Amino acid sequence: MTESEYIREIERLKKEKNAIIMAHYYQPNKIQEIADFIGDSLALAQQAAKTDAAIIVLCGVHFMGETAKIICPQKKVFVPDLSAGCSLADSINANDLKSFKEENPDYLVVSYVNTSAEVKALTDICVTSSNARKIIDMLPQDEKILFCPDRNLGSYINSVTGRNMRLWNGACHVHERFSVEALIEYKRKYPNAKVLAHPECKAALIKLADIVGSTQALLNYAKNSNEKEFLVATESGIIFEMKRACPNKNFIPIPPEISELTDEKGNIIPCVCNECNYMRLTTLEKVYRCLLDGVGEIKVDKEVSKAALSCIKKMLEMSK
Ligand code: 13P
Ligand code: SF4
Repeated sequence: MTESEYIREIERLKKEKNAIIMAHYYQPNKIQEIADFIGDSLALAQQAAKTDAAIIVLCGVHFMGETAKIICPQKKVFVPDLSAGCSLADSINANDLKSFKEENPDYLVVSYVNTSAEVKALTDICVTSSNARKIIDMLPQDEKILFCPDRNLGSYINSVTGRNMRLWNGACHVHERFSVEALIEYKRKYPNAKVLAHPECKAALIKLADIVGSTQALLNYAKNSNEKEFLVATESGIIFEMKRACPNKNFIPIPPEISELTDEKGNIIPCVCNECNYMRLTTLEKVYRCLLDGVGEIKVDKEVSKAALSCIKKMLEMSK
């Protein structure tokens, strides 16, 4: 089938089955173009909570589909490629968190939304990069907190809130690799550009940023600011929406550190890729297959889902 045939069929099946297509900002451009709703992790969870659609096709990674399914257990939720994982979510499992809790009794567990359902089931409050600072600020000053799994987001939140949360040692393989050297070089080359960075980036890079925030916060800043040029330190998929919203502004992606990949002759292949390989697994054909054949349905164990809902509900309440 051609691309336009896939798009036509997706539109038809969507209406026939009362489905909504939701996409994260890091999705391939073609997927963002066909989505009914595009958002960051928090907005996707909020949209899942309020949609009337019977079927949610969540174009993103597995934990995003799981979160939507936990919020709406009565709906069918699909992720077009179930192997779309997340290096950050994979950095902690339920047994790791159990041990972390045992080593630190009396601590409240705050987990980033980039975690599995099993980890959420052992979590007190869930956060996203949009609301982490606000939620941590709402907790009593003397509350002892375990924060998992992102050490970069955790240390950023510690620095802006004055907390001393204990951090799990996880990180996102995309955000952690943005090159500080390249950013310094780009700042010289584009002296008027504002630096936009996601809090999953390492502290040395965050120090050089003008604005630190979730994908939605970075997009909002670009839209509302009078500045014309931006250096972007987050997954490059966001640039599609930034350009769509601000066609007269210039967005320059920051490259990652030179990769260690070598070709068959042993030469280093310079990697200029700042894309999340998991996010890029979604294709029009896979979206079509979800709707046509039910491929990619998210299943979450009932007990785990019930337990995990509590920390997500708290997050949705606290972010109002
Ligand atoms: P957002 O919360 O900004 O959507 O980030 C999610 C994510 O996976 C970042 O890598
Ligand atoms: Fe996970 Fe990083 Fe990909 Fe986001 S960009 S989905 S944190 S691997």
